Amino acid sequence: MNILDFQNKKNAKEKITMITCYDYSSARLLAETNIDCLLVGDSVAMTMHGYANSLAATVDMMLSHTAAVSRGAGKKCIVTDLPFLSYRGSIDQTIQAVQAIMQAGAHAVKLEGAAGNLELIQCLVESGVPVMGHLGLTPQFIHQLGGYKVQGTNSESAEKMKQDALALEKAGCFALVLECVPAKLANEMTAMLTIPSIGIGAGAGTDGQVLVYQDLLGLNADFLPKFVKIYLQGSKQVKEGIENYIQEVKAGEFPKDEHCYYA
Ligand code: KIV
Repeated sequence: MNILDFQNKKNAKEKITMITCYDYSSARLLAETNIDCLLVGDSVAMTMHGYANSLAATVDMMLSHTAAVSRGAGKKCIVTDLPFLSYRGSIDQTIQAVQAIMQAGAHAVKLEGAAGNLELIQCLVESGVPVMGHLGLTPQFIHQLGGYKVQGTNSESAEKMKQDALALEKAGCFALVLECVPAKLANEMTAMLTIPSIGIGAGAGTDGQVLVYQDLLGLNADFLPKFVKIYLQGSKQVKEGIENYIQEVKAGEFPKDEHCYYA
């Protein structure tokens, strides 16, 4: 799957699948699945570094995780988030950060919001950098939004989101993430846009779906937003495996002869 296939899939009415990925070993696993695209999301600050929100992500953090994912991802398409405020300085500064991220192995970058980003998006696209947009619940605006809440719930905010989406499409975005948006609004935006929409908490009508790796694998037992479906009891299975190891070591059952070297 390359960037052009996002549009091909929308045209062919084939769903796009995306999942976050932050490290080499997970990238190796995902490389052996049929997933279309890996997102090195700025949620890495929370899932891998334990911060309370994604504002703690930095360009250096995104660089190191992008490079690790790239080493394991084989031919998978990699999109990397531009972290909080890193794209709100001068275009020159942003271009340097984007250059480093693309050289670390990303095939595209994602950024949040429309206002104030359109000129940058145009410049990146003209410079050969595919850009994915992100509207709805934009976690980098968490303090302005007053928490993790569904967005576009009244006619005014819904209309604004539609106008923002059209502006992002016009500026050159190749796809658009819609996070925590009422399904009806996401459906209307999906029908209105030429570029594909990728939903998270936006219902089944978007052109694709994205979820956080740790959420869908049940590795985040204490965090379960309504839009997450758990496909594996990951926490339970990992803990069971570790407890079995501890028990066997204590009982003298591990290691066995087959695990030992003999001169
Ligand atoms: O950082 C992230 O994980 C994201 C997804 C929630 C879309 O941006």
